[in-house]
Amino acid sequence: MKTFDFGIVGLGVMGRNLLLNMADQKHAVAGLDLDTEKVLSLTQEANPQHQIKATTEVKEFLELLKQPRAIMILVPAGKPVDTVIQSLLPHLDKGDIIIDGGNTYFTDTDRRFTELSAKGIHFFGMGISGGEKGARFGPSLMPGGNKEAYERLRPIFESIAAKVDGEPCVEYLGNGSAGNYVKMAHNGIEYGIMQLISEVYDLMKRGYGLDDSTIQKVFEDWNDTELQSYLIEIIGHILKKTDTDGQKLINVISDWAKSKGTGKWTSQNGMDLEVPLPTIDAAVAMRNMSKNKPERIEASAKLVWNAEQGNTDLPSAIEALKGALHFSILITYAQGLALLTKASQEYNYDLNLETIAKIWRGGCIIRSVVLEDFRQAYAKNGELKNILLDDTIAKAINENQSSIRSTVQFAVQKGIPIAGLMNSLAYFDAYRSEKLPTSLIQAQRDYFGAHTYERIDTNGIFHTEWND
Ligand code: 6PG
Repeated sequence: MKTFDFGIVGLGVMGRNLLLNMADQKHAVAGLDLDTEKVLSLTQEANPQHQIKATTEVKEFLELLKQPRAIMILVPAGKPVDTVIQSLLPHLDKGDIIIDGGNTYFTDTDRRFTELSAKGIHFFGMGISGGEKGARFGPSLMPGGNKEAYERLRPIFESIAAKVDGEPCVEYLGNGSAGNYVKMAHNGIEYGIMQLISEVYDLMKRGYGLDDSTIQKVFEDWNDTELQSYLIEIIGHILKKTDTDGQKLINVISDWAKSKGTGKWTSQNGMDLEVPLPTIDAAVAMRNMSKNKPERIEASAKLVWNAEQGNTDLPSAIEALKGALHFSILITYAQGLALLTKASQEYNYDLNLETIAKIWRGGCIIRSVVLEDFRQAYAKNGELKNILLDDTIAKAINENQSSIRSTVQFAVQKGIPIAGLMNSLAYFDAYRSEKLPTSLIQAQRDYFGAHTYERIDTNGIFHTEWND
């Protein structure tokens, strides 16, 4: 009794895999799930070296744990998290720690943090990235909560996290909901990059008429370049996969994609904080567009565009696509990181962007070689307002400008939708515009609504009777 280091509630795939990962690292771990089957299957999967005990009884589970207890909840975000907390609460003691490891909306974490702090319980919201494999063999972990209480969790989390150059992909990120917020922004970036990759795939396939095996080879080659990343790597695997009849599986997968909401939350919060995230917004919008298949079929017959056939120098076209993708991926990260910079001030998270870049280098879905460049950029200048202002990143962006411009031109001419690529370029062109046409928006607001405007030649607030 009271000999187990850590407890996990919810033995679905993520919970079970994290638990086994901890057990591999020689931690004694207890599991709780109401489903007897899950408890049994975990017990069967454990090997003799593992110190694991799983149960369906809350009281038995809590009695197994060393005090102060450390308990991670891995159940679907929302009401189930509250239900589990309520079931644990009567049996907990002051100083115990609860960690929610789901993709929870950050304001829910703030509410739980406040409620549980009042009862002397430390509450953590922790983003976990890397999917089921990551959970089993090394995820990126994004914990937020009470800093002192984190010291009790540190050795366990550092032992199970992915490692890059020997450094674990986990670090305390900040107070309250900081961990969930950072994970939300991670997922917003994930949405953006996935959209950009699918657009480039479409350009290769419909635009240049390449077959899937050729496209697969291009992505495999790209993964040995500055584009090296998990999301590029898996495209090679996906395009290689054949169905039972030997055909490429990708060609029988439907073109409407589901979403659980983290991308939408990122966009919504970007609007709330007035941080422009057009690539991420476009990614969310395009998933929504994808869902409307019957209407798209109808429109495809009515709204027709006959693209001209042009002569293409394929090697240079592929090179341009590569540059366009690299450019747009950097822009997507820039948007997500700018959101984190603003959120840190707005919600008093006191985020350290260098730390975030560091723990995103391994384990998580958006891991990529560029994260090391970002880490170095923030190490040089912790006050960097936007990653695009770093010399190394600015150079990479500038070198790929002609590629993104020619790719956008090609797609427009072909009538292939590239909302992500286009919005990345629009973000860039707006961001580098010393003067924007927003003066005309100011004038319009004042014209029809007497909303007033400011001037560049003198201070103050002005209104004009425009019709005089
Ligand atoms: C991760 C993923 C993970 C999950 C996404 C899927 O970091 O491991 O982001 O959290 O796969 O939430 O999100 P959608 O269902 O919204 O695409």
